[in-house]
Order: sequence, then structure tokens, then C-alpha cells
Amino acid sequence: MYSQTNGDNTSEERRYFLSVLSTFESYEEQSIIRINRREKCLQSLPTDHRSWLTRYKEDLDAFKRCVYKNAEFIPIIVQHAYTIFDNVLCNDSSSHSETDVGTLSEGLDKVQSVFKQLMRDWSALGAAEREQCYNPIIEEVELYFPSDKYTLSEVNVLVPGAGLGRLAFEIATRGYSCQGNEFNLFMLIVSFYVLNLCKKVDEFTIYPWIHQYCNNLTAEQQMTSVTFPDVRPMPTPESKFSMTAGDFLEVYTNPDEWDCVATCFFIDCAANVVQFIELIYHILKPGGIWINLGPLLYHYSDIKYEKSIEPSFQVLCEVIQKVGFVMEKSQTGVKARYCQNPMSMLQYEYNSVFFVCKKPELVSSDSNKDVQN
Ligand SMILES: C[S@@+](CC[C@H](N)C(=O)[O-])C[C@H]1O[C@@H](n2cnc3c(N)ncnc32)[C@H](O)[C@@H]1O
Repeated sequence: MYSQTNGDNTSEERRYFLSVLSTFESYEEQSIIRINRREKCLQSLPTDHRSWLTRYKEDLDAFKRCVYKNAEFIPIIVQHAYTIFDNVLCNDSSSHSETDVGTLSEGLDKVQSVFKQLMRDWSALGAAEREQCYNPIIEEVELYFPSDKYTLSEVNVLVPGAGLGRLAFEIATRGYSCQGNEFNLFMLIVSFYVLNLCKKVDEFTIYPWIHQYCNNLTAEQQMTSVTFPDVRPMPTPESKFSMTAGDFLEVYTNPDEWDCVATCFFIDCAANVVQFIELIYHILKPGGIWINLGPLLYHYSDIKYEKSIEPSFQVLCEVIQKVGFVMEKSQTGVKARYCQNPMSMLQYEYNSVFFVCKKPELVSSDSNKDVQN
């Protein structure tokens, strides 16, 4: 069900894979170190301040218990990670183990964000976010490819930037042939476990916001727990659902292959968003549909030495049409949250854009250019 599609440099990729596993394994220790730092800071305060803060000290102890609980999930996913990609990254006996490769410097944040992503994609509490973000996309898929006109299993839908896979899973559950694509190994390792191996509903309990120390009215809010998965996502033998691992820009090169591309909180992950738009156009069949929902929080915008462009939605609409798409529907101000703690004093809600565009049936020669990767 998981395929890895761009792997000529296997030894380097294996090293990276092992350092991701090692980073997962360091989660408990590193998170406890961060809490210990807070305890040290507390201990350094004057005696009366400390005595007034005994409850805070107890809260820090309680946060540690939540970290231990989160950490229980880690050996399970790490153990099964070795079976992803048909062991291509794991059975090269010539090189390193998890312990020699070390952890990734930015890795702890990635592990912590996976817990929030589990809330979004696979918990009952995440249903409100999924309704805002995924339902409008699913409704458009169903509108363009209704079951009375199409054999759904022959409609190919691609979800690039699939995260933990819920949107792709939901589309496949409705009978479509759906493939998710993702390049972040932290996400892939966790989604592999959830999508293939979770045995029962609400099997695990986690604390998605335990690492968010700001804007809590009470410590209990920081310790909000969720259980997952809210549904048992075992694929049925007839389901046409798959995930690919790798950079969207590298994995998908065949023209005219997909009936529909569905992107959610994804297009702003490109350093050059035009490249994403061109590629989506290139891989869609004539008459194919691109459905997008999300903000323009250009991810490379503030990264030093990255060649990032950040066109406004107005400019993007012009580009979309110049590439050759016909805009069928475009809405702004679509409220959408992302991994939000509903109890926090700080609430982020994007006024997202939501649009549907079509690659014309008859493609004129100057708009159907070859994509340069
Ligand atoms: C903001 S998240 C959205 C995830 C999911 N669509 C959702 O709505 O929850 C964007 C995802 O796209 C993935 N991504 C970014 N650039 C990518 C690329 N070039 N190829 C494949 N995946 C990519 C990231 O790793 C991340 O998981």
C-alpha cells in the first residue's frame, strides 16, 4: 500500500530514515528535558514565589505523565516502520543503526506536531476541522464524478501533501480510486501505522497540545486528551487506496493521468507555487478537475536563502488561467482551522480560498506545455 518512488540514493535515504526513527525514540527524553528546564527555572525563583507556585509545580509533574503516555505510541510505530517500503530502507546490513545516526535537530518539533496532526485527522475532536477543510473538497469530487455517471473505482483522484491521509482515505471510502502523496517521513511512518495496522477504534490516547505552554486558561486545557482512530481505517480488499512517499514534484511526471487532484493546505508548501500549478495541470487528464482549499501561508517565505515567491491570490488566479485552467468556482473567506486546540485563548482561523478549476477537454497547443521540473 505504501510505495517509495524516488530512491536512487538508498544509503543516504536509509540514514535519514534511521535518524527519523531515532528522533521519534528521543521524544520522551527530549520532552522531559524541556519540562525539567522549567522546573529548574522554578527552583531558581525566590522562596515565596516558589511557595505561591506549588500548583504550577504539580502541573509540570502532570505534564510529564502526559508525555509518558504520548511516548507509549512511539515504540509501536517505530517497530512497524521497518515494514514500510518493502524494507528497501531497512535491510541494507552494510550500514548504520538508529543509534549511530543520531537525531534530527528540528525533529522534536516534528514529532510533537504529529500528535496534533493525529488529532486533526484521526480523532473525534478533529471532526470539526475535517468538516471545514475536507468536506467541501469531498462534496466537489462527488459533484463532478457522481456515481450515476461514473464507475467510481475508475475515477483516479490524487491528494498531494496528504499529511496523515484522512482526506485521501475519505475519498477512497466513497468508492473512488485515491492515492495520497506525502514526503515527510514523520507523517508517513505514523500514517502507515494508522492506515494499515490500527486494530480498533479509540485504541490510543494522546495529549496533542501538551507541548503548548502559552494561552491556557487552566493546565487541564493543556492536558486535553484525544483518542484515535475515531474509525477503523483498515482497507478492504476491493478498496483502491494507496499512498506514495516522495516529493510531489518528482514522483508525478506522467501527463494526462488523473481525473482529479485534490489539495488541502498544500499549495503554499511550494517555494515556487507556479511549479505546483503547472504540474497539476500536466498530470490531469483533459477535462480533469483540480479542487483546492487552504490559505497562502507560504512555507518558504521566511526561510533564509530559499528562493521563495509569495504571489497574492489575485495573481495566483491569473497564473492558474495562464497555465490553461478554466476557473469553475472560486470562494474566499472560507473558515478553516489547522490543528487548533479549541480551548486555547489563541484561536487561529484562516479565511481560506476554495476553488475548483478544470483542464479543458480540448487543450490548445500553447497552454499544454511540457512541465520543467
Ligand atoms: C500543511 S500540511 C497539510 C496536510 C493535510 N493536507 C491536511 O490538510 O491536514 C502540508 C503537507 O504537505 C506535505 N508536503 C509539502 N510539500 C510537499 C511535496 N513537495 N511533496 C509531497 N508532500 C509535500 C507536508 O509534509 C505536509 O504534510
